[in-house]
Amino acid sequence: LAPKPLAGQRVLVTAGPTFEAIDPVRGITNLSSGKMGFSIARAAREAGANVVLVAGPVHLPTPRGVLRVDVTSAEDMRRASVEHAESADIFVATAAVADWRPAEQAVHKIKKDGSGEVPHLSFVENPDILSEIAHSPRARSGELFCVGFAAESQDLLANAQAKRARKGVPLLVGNIGPATFGRDDNALLLVDDESARELPHASKRVLAQQLVAEIARRVSGWSA
Ligand code: C5P
Repeated sequence: LAPKPLAGQRVLVTAGPTFEAIDPVRGITNLSSGKMGFSIARAAREAGANVVLVAGPVHLPTPRGVLRVDVTSAEDMRRASVEHAESADIFVATAAVADWRPAEQAVHKIKKDGSGEVPHLSFVENPDILSEIAHSPRARSGELFCVGFAAESQDLLANAQAKRARKGVPLLVGNIGPATFGRDDNALLLVDDESARELPHASKRVLAQQLVAEIARRVSGWSA
């Protein structure tokens, strides 16, 4: 029988990009396949957890036994995440949330009128879902264990350490190497308050299992 290191734990995962509408047919988004987050949701479920997966627009099947909540914008993702974080023991934020959204959404499609005029968009900042939840009383007291991700193009270790502190999370996971978007493999750097440890190049499925084992070790003292 496979070990169930997360039996009885409630895990919330965000995954995929968000989509911020400009008008009914256009918007801005981030590059993200959602594969890492879906793999983590699957691995957490296989480790015995109750899993809620808050997913932005992606083309991936729902892992078996996982409760999936589909969202579009960062605001939607925030609402669903805050709600489910209230009863979660572990929160893993893998979503590539758009940093900004158009300040206004046009109700009707913005027309190209042939004059050569272009629309001028202004933006407002989106909420930082991970930071908000990681600074909540339940997370600060240790009842909710939060894990963040970082995709950096340079100085991964220094940036990951700074991000860990800024977001207020005990564990920050860096994506190693060039663009991992859409790929089925990756390598990860696990950064906590004491050290950094590399999970070498492997499939996202295997990396998700290793990360889940690492989280279980920290949350419930489980060891393989
Ligand atoms: O600041 P940055 O976007 O690099 O932080 C990445 C981490 O924060 C990821 O875990 C991501 O899911 C989370 N995040 C979030 N809400 C945002 C921006 C990032 O939850 N608005």
